[in-house]
Amino acid sequence: MTKIYHPETRVAAAGVGKDSEYRAIVPPLYLSANYAWTSPLIKPSFDYARSGNPSREALEAALGALEGADHCVVTATGMAAIDLVLCLLAPDDLIVAPHDCYGGTHRLLTARAAKGQFKLKFIDQSDPLALVEIFAKKPKLLLIETPSNPLLRITDIGQCVGLAKAAGTITVADNTFLSPALQNPLALGCDIVLHSTTKFINGHSDIVGGAVMTNDSALGEALAWWANCTGITGAAFDSYQTLRGLRTLYPRIKYQQETTAELVEALQACKNVKKIYYPGLTSHRGHEIAARQQRGFGSMVSVAFEEHVDVVALLKNLRLFTIAESLGGFESLACLPATMTHGAMPAEARAVAGISDRLVRFSIGLEHVDDLTRDLFAAIAIAIDKKIKPDLDQSPCMGLAGESNPSPAQERVSPWV
Ligand SMILES: Cc1ncc(COP(=O)(O)O)c(C=O)c1O
Repeated sequence: MTKIYHPETRVAAAGVGKDSEYRAIVPPLYLSANYAWTSPLIKPSFDYARSGNPSREALEAALGALEGADHCVVTATGMAAIDLVLCLLAPDDLIVAPHDCYGGTHRLLTARAAKGQFKLKFIDQSDPLALVEIFAKKPKLLLIETPSNPLLRITDIGQCVGLAKAAGTITVADNTFLSPALQNPLALGCDIVLHSTTKFINGHSDIVGGAVMTNDSALGEALAWWANCTGITGAAFDSYQTLRGLRTLYPRIKYQQETTAELVEALQACKNVKKIYYPGLTSHRGHEIAARQQRGFGSMVSVAFEEHVDVVALLKNLRLFTIAESLGGFESLACLPATMTHGAMPAEARAVAGISDRLVRFSIGLEHVDDLTRDLFAAIAIAIDKKIKPDLDQSPCMGLAGESNPSPAQERVSPWV
């Protein structure tokens, strides 16, 4: 298919009609671990599932089309995708990563650097001065995560790419928080884009996976070689599931974004909220950069609550939102980054990154916005420390147009019963 088609069309059509045997519409799932050779001298297109298999190849083609990449390696998890990129480094190479990256990324980088596999520096990539300073050291690789997890800090990809090109640095963007539907780092000049496909790309919270993509043939070959060598490639079944989930990426993202914007609007009027981290707010640092380099503001939002809100009670009293790690699925989730997603990060590193114990991260799913809003505000009402602020019990939040706030005492009914 030529590049004239919109991505929505490309993902709907990916692999359709390719089955010459039975003319199956859906690309078949090939679970075979090995493939027969016709002669020991002629290597078939697929010989062993770790090196390649048709189901993974179908997903790689679809993802490559969405990110505008010629080379794609689907990995077992998002962490495997990051670790695959780290295979490109030598002990004297410096890698620069965001100080508020995903906790698992922080742990992996720190652990590998401690083994002497490369040198490592965490910086605030939204600080232009810090960037200029670090590029004077000519790093081998710059890892960008924008928006970052969980504070949704925005890094100016174009600015980083400009500095990186002058320093001979490979720029890698973790595009997990937005997906190719909302941001294409390769088009913005990055050398490599990677994803945890566990999140928006699969969108159904039933597999874990990752992907690494590039347009640089040498990098593409090195990544494919290391993926096969280390065996971190994605399984056929997971690839099949991910391609199935990927087909609805665009409508899911559109709906989830709209819901998020409405929910943020309601939260803005809530006096128990100290700060909202959401790139769609004009007050959000980096909003203008986000508006320029993204095609939407996504469906992730983090909220710092005021002192009198017991955030643990808040989380425990949510009925529609589930307390869980991960993000980008059909289901709305809430988590406390300090003890969950970023629990692996030392407390000092969390403090430097600005991840407070009162910060709650929300991943907005496909439920109706009214139900989510009601659920969240009812949980906030219950979570207010009555001893400290007795008066707040009556009117915990404002701004729910045309609706009275649910009473904290009101019985919370789970939608599943
Ligand atoms: C931004 C980001 N990158 C990478 C990962 C790791 O992905 P996975 O859990 O699929 O290994 C995560 C996981 O939450 C993430 O949020």
